Amino acid sequence: MDMLEEIIDIVRRAGEMIRCAHNIAEDTVEKNGPSDLVTKYDLAVQQFLRRELLALLPEADFLGEEGEQQTLSSDWTFIVDPIDGTTNFVRNLGYSNISVALAHHGKSEYGVVYNPFREEMYAARRGEGATLNGEKIHVTDYPPEKGLVTFGSTIYDRELTDSSFKIMRQLYDRCADFRRLASAALDFCQVAAGRLEVFFECRLRPWDIAAGVLILQEAGGTVTTLQGGEVDVMHNSSVFATNGVCHHLLDELEVPEL
Ligand code: IPD
Ligand code: CA
Ligand code: CA
Repeated sequence: MDMLEEIIDIVRRAGEMIRCAHNIAEDTVEKNGPSDLVTKYDLAVQQFLRRELLALLPEADFLGEEGEQQTLSSDWTFIVDPIDGTTNFVRNLGYSNISVALAHHGKSEYGVVYNPFREEMYAARRGEGATLNGEKIHVTDYPPEKGLVTFGSTIYDRELTDSSFKIMRQLYDRCADFRRLASAALDFCQVAAGRLEVFFECRLRPWDIAAGVLILQEAGGTVTTLQGGEVDVMHNSSVFATNGVCHHLLDELEVPEL
């Protein structure tokens, strides 16, 4: 098996831990208030992924959302969100994912995003296109007026709420409609799969973006920061992610200071 297939296999096995989860609400604690939850599954899935991924590539560093962050010193880094969309998971909404990227010198080379509830496996290797369950995917060519927008409401950074809603309000006037789906890595993948045209969020973490950005780019989409710059997957970043055709919207938006 090549590296991408190996990562997919590990992520699929981790997905079973999420799909078979029970009594989730009982094992949920608030990290920083009611909109920031962590379950025993977030921790168990990260532990599983850490063990399996590092067995695959022992020289790599591991950057995961849960637990202590290690100092990064290797050329290769696994960037992992064990459950992205934890609130959706706790509330049984069926829209959560595991996100794993393998970055080389700070650039994602492999990206895998898996929604175990719909058994949807998104994957990309830089330069080789993006797939959903093994089939090639591509963004739409819809212009803004036919476009659906999804956005992140910056629940962990409430000082950015006004800015987010101001941007959303401007997009709402130019596009067909909007959604708030609440699982960032999957939101990138919905644009990649041609189900939505625009996704933006004001401050995402490396584990929210590292796999999704690559999958969307490989599906023909465009991703920049809200200021139009390059997204650095190793650091927190705002993102404006589109099917490409809609990216010019960014020039029309008044983006408040972030
Ligand atoms: C969150 C989700 C949410 C996004 C937040 C993320 P988590 O991830 O992706 O959609 O708006 O910015 O932090 O905490 O469920 O892993
Ligand atoms: Ca996340
Ligand atoms: Ca998470």
